[in-house]
Amino acid sequence: MVFGAILAGGKGSRMGNYTMPKQFLPINGKPIIVHVTEKFLVHPEIDRVVIGVNPEWHQYMEDLIAKFFPDQKNLILVDGGADRNSTIYNVICEIRKIHHDDDDVIVTHDAVRPFVTMKMISENIALASKYGVCDTVISATDTIVYSDNHEYITDIPIRSNTYQGQTPQSFRIKLFEEVYSQMTEEELNIVTDACKMFMLKGHKVYLAKGHVSNIKITYSDDYKTAQYMLGNMTGEETHD
Ligand code: CTP
Repeated sequence: MVFGAILAGGKGSRMGNYTMPKQFLPINGKPIIVHVTEKFLVHPEIDRVVIGVNPEWHQYMEDLIAKFFPDQKNLILVDGGADRNSTIYNVICEIRKIHHDDDDVIVTHDAVRPFVTMKMISENIALASKYGVCDTVISATDTIVYSDNHEYITDIPIRSNTYQGQTPQSFRIKLFEEVYSQMTEEELNIVTDACKMFMLKGHKVYLAKGHVSNIKITYSDDYKTAQYMLGNMTGEETHD
C-alpha cells in the first residue's frame, strides 16, 4: 500500500505573532493543511493519508476533518512527536497497527507546502518503490556557500552539483524502520532531516524533481506569498 503522511507536528515559531501554528492559517478560506490534505486524498496511487499533528492541536484538527472531510474513510489522525522524525515515526507506528507489508511506501510531506503537485507525488512513489528512498529537490540557482563557523566561507561547492531540498520525502516503510532503529540517541538529536538518516546509514537517496513554486511557509512573508500564489492560480500544475 502507499500512505501519505502530512507532517503537522510543529508550532511554527519562526512565523512570529499568530494565534495558531502556520499549518492552520487560512488561504482562500481554507486552512493550509486542508489544501495539502486534499492533494493527497485525490492522488490515485495513495491508499490512506495519515496526519501527524501537534498534540495540543489534536482536537482542532479533528474538528477540521469533520468540517472539510466528513465522509472520508481514508484519513487517520495521530499525535506528532517532539521533532519531525518522531512525527514520522508516530505516523508509521499508527500505520503498522492497520497494515504491514514489506513493500509499503510512505510519502511524507510538510503540512506547510500547499503547492505540491500530483506529478511530484507520483515520481516520489515510483522512486521510493524502486530504490527505497527519495527526496524532492530543485537545482540551486544561487551559488551555495558553506560556512562551518558562521563567520567566513569554508566551502563553495560546484553550483551544478548543488540542490535545495523540499518535500515530499518518500521511502519504503520497512527501510525507515530499519534505519530509525539503528540511530543512536545522539544521532536522533542532531539529525532532523529524514533523508539524512538514510544517508548516515549508507543508503542512496534518489532525487525527485521539485519546483520553485513548492515553497515552504516558514516566515510570515512566505504566508503572504502563498496567499498571493493561491489567489492567482487558475489551475494546478501549469509548470512541468
Ligand atoms: N513538524 C512535525 N513535527 C515536529 C516539528 C515539525 O511534523 N515535531 C513539521 C511541521 O509541522 C512542518 C514541517 O515539519 O509542517 C516543516 O517544519 P518547520 O517548517 O520547521 O515547521 P515548524 O517546526 O512548525 O516551524 P518552526 O521551526 O518555525 O517552529
